[in-house]
Amino acid sequence: MTALGQHLARRIRANGPMSVAEYMSEAVSHYYAAGDPFGQAGDFITAPEVSQVFGELIGAWCAASWESIGKPDPVLLVELGPGRGTMMADLLRAARGAPDFARAAQLHLVERSPALRALQSEKLASYQPQWHDGIATLPPGPMLLVANEFLDALPIRQFQCSGAAWHERRIGLADDRETLAFLLDPGPSALGAELLPAAPENAIAELCPAAIALGAALGSRLANDGGAALFVDYGYYPRAYGDTLQAVRRHRAQSVLDEPGSADLTAHVDFAAFASAAQAAGAAVHGPIGQGAFLARLGIAAREAALLQRATPAQAAAIRSGCRRLIDSGQMGVLFKVMALSQPNIALEGLA
Ligand SMILES: C[S@@+](CC[C@H](N)C(=O)[O-])C[C@H]1O[C@@H](n2cnc3c(N)ncnc32)[C@H](O)[C@@H]1O
Repeated sequence: MTALGQHLARRIRANGPMSVAEYMSEAVSHYYAAGDPFGQAGDFITAPEVSQVFGELIGAWCAASWESIGKPDPVLLVELGPGRGTMMADLLRAARGAPDFARAAQLHLVERSPALRALQSEKLASYQPQWHDGIATLPPGPMLLVANEFLDALPIRQFQCSGAAWHERRIGLADDRETLAFLLDPGPSALGAELLPAAPENAIAELCPAAIALGAALGSRLANDGGAALFVDYGYYPRAYGDTLQAVRRHRAQSVLDEPGSADLTAHVDFAAFASAAQAAGAAVHGPIGQGAFLARLGIAAREAALLQRATPAQAAAIRSGCRRLIDSGQMGVLFKVMALSQPNIALEGLA
C-alpha cells in the first residue's frame, strides 16, 4: 500500500467511508504533484505528445475562432491542465502564421501541480504565462480556452442500482481494516435514481459535479464576456451508464484501489451533462464530433504532407504513424471527442 493509501485508510477508520469523488480527488492531486507521468517512458501518452501536428492544428483552430469572435484585442488564451506544456508550445508556434492573433493573446494556464507548472514554465517562459488554480481567478474579458484530457481527471461520484434502489458507491475498508474496498451506502440515493430512473440490477451511473460546475461557470462567462472553449477528451455522448473509472500505470490498466496516487486515475467524460450545464448558463454548444473527423476538417492531411516534404526516412515514419494514431477509428479517432462551448450565434471551424 502506498503512503497515500495508508493515509486514506486512517481517514476512513476515523471518519467512515468516503465518496469515489473524494478518493479520486486525493489520488489525482497526489499523482500529478509527483512529477512528469507522460510519454513512452512514463505511464501514458496524450495526443500532443503523439505528434506536434495536434497542437499546431489546435493553434489554427484558435486563430480561426479569434476571427469568429470578432478579433478581440487583448484576448485571454487559456489552457486547462497543460501537462508538459507541449500542446501550448506547438499551438503558439503555429499561431505565428496569424500574427495579429498571436500579438493579442495573453497566456493563462490553469494547473495545480507545482512539478508540472515548472515544466510548463521551461517551455513557455517567453510567452509570460500566468498560472491559476482554477478559472475563477482568470481576469475578465473575452477568451479562447483549450483543454486536452482535462475533464477526465475531474472527480466523479458513482451510484449503483441494488435491490431495486440506487445507492452511492463509497470506498471503505475490507475485513482486514487495512485494504481499501468498494461498498454501497446502506441508505437509498435520490440522486442516483434521478440520473437513471430505470436500470438493471448492478447498473452504475456516474456524475462529475466538478465538470458540471465548470460547464456552468464557463457557459456564463462565455455568454457575458465572449469567446470559445475547446475540449478534447474520451467520453460518451449521449448519456450512458457503466463503470468507467480506470487506473493506468506504465501504459497498463491497474486496480483502481491498490496503489492510490501511483497511477493515473480517470473516468470517461459525460459530454451531454457538460453541454447541458453550459447551455443552461447561456452558451452555445458545438459538437461533439470524433477527434479524427475534427482533425481531418482542420487539414491534418495537408499538414502531414508539408512535414513529410522535409523529413528524413525515420522522421517520415514517425510523422505518418503519429498522424494515423490521432485519427484512426481504432486508435484515438473516435473514442476521443471534440466539443466546443462559445458565445451564442457563431460558427466555429471544424465543428459547424
Ligand atoms: C492527463 S493530463 C493532460 C495534460 C495535457 N493536456 C496533455 O494533453 O498532455 C491532466 C492535466 O490536468 C491537470 N489537472 C488535473 N486535475 C486538475 C485540476 N483539478 N485543476 C487543475 N489542473 C488539473 C494535471 O496536473 C495535468 O496537467
